[in-house]
Amino acid sequence: MCGIIAYSGEQKASPILFEGLKRLEYRGYDSAGIVTLDQNSELELKKDIGKVRDIHERLNLLDLEGTIGIAHTRWATHGGVTQRNAHPHVSNSAEIAVIHNGIVENYKELKAMLVSEGFHFESETDTEVIPNLIEHWMKKGLSLVEAVARTLQSLEGNFAIVVLHRASGTVIGSKNGSPLVLGIGKANSEIFIASDIPAFLDRTKDVVYLYDGDMVVVENHPKEKKRTWRIFDFRSDLEAQEELPRPVQSVSWDLEHAQLGEFDHFLVKEITEQVDTIQKAAAQDRELIENITREIKNAKGVFLVASGTSFHACLSSSYLFAKLASFHINTVLASEFSAYENFLKPETLVIAVSQSGETIDVLDAVKTAKKKNCQVVSIVNVMGSSLTQVADMTVLLNAGPEVSVLSTKTYTATLAVLTLLAYSLAGRYDEGLRKLKFLWNIVYNLTAQNTRKKIQQLADKIRNEEHIFVLGRGPLYATALEAALKIKEVSYIHAEAFAAGELKHGPIAMIKQNTICIVFVSTDTEKTILSNAMEVKSRGGYLVGIGPKPLESFDFFMKVPESDDLNPILQIIPIQILAYQLAVVLGHDPDKPRNLAKSVTVR
Ligand code: AGP
Ligand code: GLU
Repeated sequence: MCGIIAYSGEQKASPILFEGLKRLEYRGYDSAGIVTLDQNSELELKKDIGKVRDIHERLNLLDLEGTIGIAHTRWATHGGVTQRNAHPHVSNSAEIAVIHNGIVENYKELKAMLVSEGFHFESETDTEVIPNLIEHWMKKGLSLVEAVARTLQSLEGNFAIVVLHRASGTVIGSKNGSPLVLGIGKANSEIFIASDIPAFLDRTKDVVYLYDGDMVVVENHPKEKKRTWRIFDFRSDLEAQEELPRPVQSVSWDLEHAQLGEFDHFLVKEITEQVDTIQKAAAQDRELIENITREIKNAKGVFLVASGTSFHACLSSSYLFAKLASFHINTVLASEFSAYENFLKPETLVIAVSQSGETIDVLDAVKTAKKKNCQVVSIVNVMGSSLTQVADMTVLLNAGPEVSVLSTKTYTATLAVLTLLAYSLAGRYDEGLRKLKFLWNIVYNLTAQNTRKKIQQLADKIRNEEHIFVLGRGPLYATALEAALKIKEVSYIHAEAFAAGELKHGPIAMIKQNTICIVFVSTDTEKTILSNAMEVKSRGGYLVGIGPKPLESFDFFMKVPESDDLNPILQIIPIQILAYQLAVVLGHDPDKPRNLAKSVTVR
């Protein structure tokens, strides 16, 4: 859940790490810290609670000296949000510093063993056992690399870690179930290890994707002014460590994607980018989509598996698969997938959908599927992410990095890809693609200044509400779920979605004078949903209609041109904007909502 960045190079490390941390803050942000190795081969450490910029104002992170360092933004799992619990953590004799993403599930036993050996602990974190275990093994005579490998072998749970060794300046990174990628500067002039590519995208586009079990050792050779990197498998025999070949690949993402430019926040930038990203997502390699279509046709049982917003995209498109191709797709929340294990056969196809490709629930679901020898297709935005490494086939969303914690452009990109798949399954690929291309102009208008101004009036009106209800039918029920999630995540107003027909089965009891109720309408659901809207209206509710034409009962109306099967891609956009504007008027940070992290790598 946290952000990791490490640097070994010729430049002063702290400004580079500071910039990297700011770009990683969306991953977790309750505290942060940097440790560097200064000219006297001493570790210089600063860490505190709060946001990176605020910590810098208090502590001046930039005066940390040295050209090697490691840095972390924390999303606490073990131990409160305190200065002591912030990372990096340092071993008892200050030889080893560690930053860590994930959970050491067996930390209590490891800690007890270390305490019995005379080690003491400063923090309540699980992480602090790691530097001390490394030190413990080095005291027993193992080399640094062996001690790190031995330590990693003893950790239970998913992790990504980076180790800095004071005496040698060697930096070691390793991953097991959490993301970590290597960035390589020209001719190894500088090496980065980070949780995500945007952390170093301003300095290099050359990356090496690390796999679970990989342990990269970055050695510094100050005399020759160079550094080297080698990758091993920490799980293999310590005596028989063999270097693993891993290719250096170039990423297509541009830095401008990871920068704000003219925008105040990434959330509004990414909402606006949908004009392009939906098109990019639709511009898939036709052969790949047709191959997957064949797999779907031949499979005995198909599951769409995802979490959060990605799940809503799956649910939405399951209606489309049914309508266009008379095809039943089981749509299951990744965290619930294990309950379906008995239905999985080698002929079953599992389509795992995840923006980050790192969501642990989705990776667990894929593990369950693989155990039963199912074929796995992944739909992912982040190239090289863990999900792409375990899937048999991958479709990339091509939406560019999504920095805001809220998924917006990757939601519509996922919908675009799944729409294309549904059309392909119905034997209507060209028609699907044409319809997707046609969306460009509508998305442009929906994200334009005048639309945003209109939605601002609504945000001003409802900013002090405690509850908002959201209704939709068919695929627009999934849109309602997504709309409620967007509003909740960033405005902290309670928003709840219902399939409109369910209203009368209970939720209607909540409706009273002026209760805000957002209704998604399409031409084919107009009649039925209108009756549901009237049920709300006659109890004094305030109706916000989103759809092709204003209905008499609407108190506020946002026009979204009728686009038939593609309505879900468009109708969510006004609510993405509303959620953003609510956050702004309420004084919340739109990009970093409280308690949330961009990629959820813990269960
Ligand atoms: C989206 O706004 C949320 N922050 C969250 O629900 C997210 O969609 C979920 O955690 C799944 O993430 P993924 O697509 O990266 O797997
Ligand atoms: N479990 C560690 C802690 O609570 C790491 C959490 C993280 O991933 O930021 O400090």
